[in-house]
Amino acid sequence: MPAKRDPALPVKSALPPILLVGCGRMGGAMLAAWLEHGLAPSVVVDPVPRLPPGAEAAVTLAAAAAIPVAFAPAAVVLAVKPQQAEGVLPAFARFAGSSVFLSIMAGRTLGGMQAALGPNAAIVRAMPNTPAAIRAGMSVACAGPGVDEAGRRLSETLLAAVGRVAWVEDEALLDPVTAVSGSGPAYVFLLGELLERAGIEQGLPADLARLLARRTIAGAGALLEAGEEDAAALRAAVTSPGGTTERALSVLMDERAWPSAISRAVAAATERSRELSG
Ligand SMILES: NC(=O)c1ccc[n+]([C@@H]2O[C@H](COP(=O)([O-])OP(=O)(O)OC[C@H]3O[C@@H](n4cnc5c(N)ncnc54)[C@H](OP(=O)(O)O)[C@@H]3O)[C@@H](O)[C@H]2O)c1
Repeated sequence: MPAKRDPALPVKSALPPILLVGCGRMGGAMLAAWLEHGLAPSVVVDPVPRLPPGAEAAVTLAAAAAIPVAFAPAAVVLAVKPQQAEGVLPAFARFAGSSVFLSIMAGRTLGGMQAALGPNAAIVRAMPNTPAAIRAGMSVACAGPGVDEAGRRLSETLLAAVGRVAWVEDEALLDPVTAVSGSGPAYVFLLGELLERAGIEQGLPADLARLLARRTIAGAGALLEAGEEDAAALRAAVTSPGGTTERALSVLMDERAWPSAISRAVAAATERSRELSG
């Protein structure tokens, strides 16, 4: 008699075969997550791949020319550096029409990739972020013309393995997405650095300042993630009239301080993302 499945245990969904092009920081993190989800035998193309543990089941090749003719991936995931795209993409054009392409390359547009992969290529362009390495990522995806429901679903499944996924219809929105969630982890890391430094300036031992800064950011982030409340409501809830938080916020919320700096930073990153697009 088959054992009864414990409903509390997650079901391991088998993923179809994937061709991963570029197995660096982000490609490697995604591969690690897919392997945990039961990835079917797949192929990785990268001259020096950063293979995660358990990746032995995947065939690793240095170049596209070595891919077995019979290999039929359900998706070709493009995870090389954007500046490598031009030289790399044409070698994968033969999969157009039979696989969906999922690109995580920053700034490489659907139109630019279509020109390299051919008119039949069904391409999803996505922007993940670094917390993907611990399955806490945020990806935003945009489907190009010709992506069918199955291609969209598979792309969503592959991205969801490393975090949350949202879709946009308008590709131009990927520039502000890049500025908010793509570059965003760096802004939070900067806050960590500055909070730690300010704690030391106020007399805290360095290791305690570091611990407080890190745990405060991680804990506040978890609190924000856990509830439905707006960030502004959570902020108000910890701000007693006349107290210490209110005094600090009067500095940070001065119109020339954080409200203006964050807005200018995101505008500058959006502008840079547009400049780099092609
Ligand atoms: N890291 C992030 O937070 C993040 C966030 C959003 C989007 N992305 C995007 O993800 C992509 C990868 O970024 P990453 O940080 O993972 O970069 P990475 O660590 O440099 O990974 C790229 C990998 O591709 C390999 N490669 C180079 N030429 C190749 C070729 N001809 N065929 C196959 N593989 C080749 C590289 O090998 P070598 O090192 O030997 O050159 C490297 O292992 C980028 O397009 C980036 O825009 C990254």
